[in-house]
Amino acid sequence: MGVWSHDLRLLLLNVLLLFPSLYLVNAEGPKEQRSESSESCDFFEGSWVEVEDDSYPLYEECPFIDAGLNCQKNGRPDKLYLKYKWQPTHCDLHRFDGEAFLQRFRGKKIMFVGDSLSNNQWQSLGCMLYAANSNCTLVRKGNRSILSFPDYELDVTFLKNGFLVDLVHEESGGRVLKLDSLSRSKQWEDVDMLIFNSYHWWMHTGNLQTWDYFQVGEKLYKEMDRMDAYKIALTTWANWVDSNIDPNKTKVFFQGISAVHYHGNEWNEPAVQDCRHQTKPIEGSSFPGERYPGEAVVKGVLGNMTNSVYLLDIALLTQLRKDGHPSTYAGGVVDCSHWCVAGVPDSWNQILYSILIQN
Ligand SMILES: *[C@@H]1O[C@H](CO)[C@@H](O)[C@H](O)[C@H]1NC(C)=O
Ligand SMILES: *[C@@H]1O[C@H](CO)[C@@H](O)[C@H](O)[C@H]1NC(C)=O
Ligand SMILES: *[C@@H]1O[C@H](CO)[C@@H](O)[C@H](O)[C@H]1NC(C)=O
Ligand SMILES: *[C@@H]1O[C@H](CO)[C@@H](O)[C@H](O)[C@H]1NC(C)=O
Repeated sequence: MGVWSHDLRLLLLNVLLLFPSLYLVNAEGPKEQRSESSESCDFFEGSWVEVEDDSYPLYEECPFIDAGLNCQKNGRPDKLYLKYKWQPTHCDLHRFDGEAFLQRFRGKKIMFVGDSLSNNQWQSLGCMLYAANSNCTLVRKGNRSILSFPDYELDVTFLKNGFLVDLVHEESGGRVLKLDSLSRSKQWEDVDMLIFNSYHWWMHTGNLQTWDYFQVGEKLYKEMDRMDAYKIALTTWANWVDSNIDPNKTKVFFQGISAVHYHGNEWNEPAVQDCRHQTKPIEGSSFPGERYPGEAVVKGVLGNMTNSVYLLDIALLTQLRKDGHPSTYAGGVVDCSHWCVAGVPDSWNQILYSILIQN
């Protein structure tokens, strides 16, 4: 885990096409996701609205929130950030029903694979389910954290894997990020619902960069356009999903790009340095700053797949939540990249739930 202090402004050199946010992608190319009940509804277009009643936050008590994400425990004084719900412009999200979710996944395995933002979403879902049934156990084994609900024989796992492709420490000393190699993918098999994520680690530079070389085939590269490297790696992952996942058994999601708030000029507050003292979301349904370059890469790679992978396109809805980060209540650092739990990721899981119900 860590704080991503990269300067996003440097990366926003490309002029990016703005795609409609939600696609169900398949061999015929991108197709808009529709259902009879919510014709033309895009879950990812909308705004944050304050809830007056006590329906939010969705849970108060949760025993397994990471110290760095447990903002209330760390003394965050304001609570308004817990009272916002995501309201899609053209439809309503289903109210999250933890009991129904547990029933639906009886006897199944759910796995989040990715970086600390996958961990963030996993913790949130764990807490939402715990609120419905507290008979659960948490076991941590190596890179895995497994939350089990024995009454439902359900496992909800977080598997830490920042790049999806392999990062290898070679005997010769160098750390090599192998863009076309996936030696740990066996761990993703026999799972009923997979939610992948990878983005922020690709942007690391300086001390935060965890590799020395990129490798493609036999060739080593000291540096590479980061979006090119990201595209090659995601394509490696996409080919694995297309060849190894039976879509009749396993649902696959990709958690889109989660926003960071280190530069107030991105949201028209140039005097603001980061997310400190932010207690309210940005109003409305558009963000004044630029899109992330990775968004186009993700959409392009998913659009080329033969299997359907559902994009949880959280970029816009997180860009609007400059108030949702742990900020100075992370225990030490100023964290404007992860999210308080309870908080913003609860809405990602409500959207996930709504997608599951709709299909
Ligand atoms: C755990 O992750 C690290 C890199 O984050 C990797 O080197 C190691 O092989 C992983 N362990 C297992 C058991 O997959
Ligand atoms: C938790 O679930 C297990 C397995 O169903 C059961 O044996 C146990 O009695 C349950 N514990 C509680 C406190 O309900
Ligand atoms: C999935 O199920 C459908 C309908 O039962 C079937 O036609 C299709 O061949 C199956 N696909 C795979 C990959 O098994
Ligand atoms: C999609 O596939 C086409 C044809 O193979 C390729 O030219 C293009 O670069 C791919 N796009 C992405 C984003 O992977």
